[in-house]
Amino acid sequence: MHFISLTQTTHEFINATVKLGDKAIDATCGNGHDTLFLAKAVGVCGCVWSFDIQESALFIARQRLIEANVLKRVHLICDSHERMEHHIMPESRVGIRVIVFNLGYLPGGNKQITTKVASTLKALKISWQLLERSGLLAVVLYPGHAEGLLETQSVLQAVERLQLQPSRVEHVKTPSEKGPQGLYIWK
Ligand SMILES: C[S@@+](CC[C@H](N)C(=O)[O-])C[C@H]1O[C@@H](n2cnc3c(N)ncnc32)[C@H](O)[C@@H]1O
Repeated sequence: MHFISLTQTTHEFINATVKLGDKAIDATCGNGHDTLFLAKAVGVCGCVWSFDIQESALFIARQRLIEANVLKRVHLICDSHERMEHHIMPESRVGIRVIVFNLGYLPGGNKQITTKVASTLKALKISWQLLERSGLLAVVLYPGHAEGLLETQSVLQAVERLQLQPSRVEHVKTPSEKGPQGLYIWK
């Protein structure tokens, strides 16, 4: 069986979309793997805003970014992603080329602290408005746990309902029904 690594798929799509000097948002920083990838992709003149509600996750992410010498181009923000507009000033919003949501709970962390349908949907809607034309909205979904299943169904339905009119959509599923799924939407 061919195993699809969604992290790899997500990073390949990001690389194909982002240019040096672009701006990016990681809506779920966690341990900072995606944030680090984005920070490298946008380069020294680019900028990344990275959100998480857990200070402990941001602490780990900060160490990772320091080690890679890219912290200067990243804003680590301890707040819910549905409030991203409060942290990204209107004059800074031009050039946001990619927004990543890696939903669910922190690997190795408290599984009760997970993304929730209502705030996720609100944040996705705001993200679509913030995204540059031809930019990428990447969402990794985890239907293998109860909240994640609800979230996966809600996100897929909402994307239909919101009629985002994307220029391209890719829906990547892993072989198991309960495995993670990647939804990639280009504006
Ligand atoms: C699957 S992890 C993210 C993995 C991460 N992208 C990485 O590269 O390590 C999901 C993260 O979302 C965070 N989270 C949950 N609800 C959130 C919210 N409303 N706003 C921002 N982050 C949230 C969790 O604390 C957790 O760290």
